[in-house]
Amino acid sequence: MKKPNIAILGATGVVGREITKIVNELNIEFNEIKFLSSAKSAGSKIEFQGKEYTVEEAKPESFDGVNIVLASAGGSTSQKFAPEIVKRGGVLIDNSSAFRMDKDVPLVIAYVNDEDLRKHKGIIANPNCSTSQLMLVLKPLHEKAKIKRLIVSTYQAVSGAGLAAINELTADTKANLAGETFENKCFKKPISFNVIPQIDVFCENGYTKEEMKVVNETKKILHLPQELPISCTAARVPVYNGHSEAVDIEFEENITPEEVREILKNSFGVEVIDNPDNFEYPTTRDASGVNPVFVGRIRKNLAFNNGISLWCVADNLRIGAALNTVRICQKVIEMGLF
Ligand SMILES: NC(=O)c1ccc[n+]([C@@H]2O[C@H](COP(=O)([O-])OP(=O)(O)OC[C@H]3O[C@@H](n4cnc5c(N)ncnc54)[C@H](OP(=O)(O)O)[C@@H]3O)[C@@H](O)[C@H]2O)c1
Repeated sequence: MKKPNIAILGATGVVGREITKIVNELNIEFNEIKFLSSAKSAGSKIEFQGKEYTVEEAKPESFDGVNIVLASAGGSTSQKFAPEIVKRGGVLIDNSSAFRMDKDVPLVIAYVNDEDLRKHKGIIANPNCSTSQLMLVLKPLHEKAKIKRLIVSTYQAVSGAGLAAINELTADTKANLAGETFENKCFKKPISFNVIPQIDVFCENGYTKEEMKVVNETKKILHLPQELPISCTAARVPVYNGHSEAVDIEFEENITPEEVREILKNSFGVEVIDNPDNFEYPTTRDASGVNPVFVGRIRKNLAFNNGISLWCVADNLRIGAALNTVRICQKVIEMGLF
């Protein structure tokens, strides 16, 4: 198998650091690796596989000879560098939302729609974190009973908004407990001891962009019809890491909670924790720092025919971003797509 030259763009950020760790964990074989950031962190050091690397400022020439770029440096940075990467024959695996709905760009969850990778023209998009964790759960259920309608409510951790947001939760909590005033910057409302029903900006239809990402990206990844009804409400909660989701699914065909449990127990990347009698159900503390998407509270939904409700928890920095990015990289290498 050909070994690529890899660049990690945004290596000093929350997602970039996680990508670096997972490249090591998944034993990605590469020829050379480099770490890129903005001018701000250029010159800082990264320890990787026993070697010290100096972070470089990303410039067009940084991508000379690079085969695969794992990017988590924001949409405008990806938009700026994508043509430079593609022009040089590289493949960009992008974490931002810049290209996700572009019809020429595959939007992929590894082990869900790998075949879509074959259609790439130099750019592959990694879905939004709240969509990502759902896909490994919904795909095998859709194959069994066909999704007819979907309602998702998210409870999203602050790490999904980057390093500054993590620091804001700490500082706001400390200030709150000390009875001091605190000026929030990352969030529109104080995040400590609070739940904020807004992630990203509002769209004309009253949904937020984050909510519409779940609607549109789910349809693209699972190849669902455009008219299939999906609704999402996304809220930010004062949790450092790990997104939770309450999911209500109506299926075309009958499917029992027992069947759902059995299917998910045998599905790649999913772990079922579902024994309410013994208070066993997944929480964000179970999910943070590990790879599986955890599912529990599987029950018959009382509002739909053929309906199932479940609770789904995962590490948003892993399956929601870095883990899937590196798994895509692994597939691109295995499938010889660079
Ligand atoms: N956090 C999540 O759960 C999550 C999930 C899915 C997708 N994403 C996406 O991933 C991206 C990064 O998120 P994050 O949470 O890791 O943010 P972050 O902690 O703020 O890190 C941003 C990274 O991008 C680099 N960067 C910024 N501007 C740059 C430029 N002009 N040129 C080169 N590098 C630049 C930064 O370098 P410096 O250190 O030099 O500033 C830093 O390494 C965003 O697009 C976000 O939407 C995040």
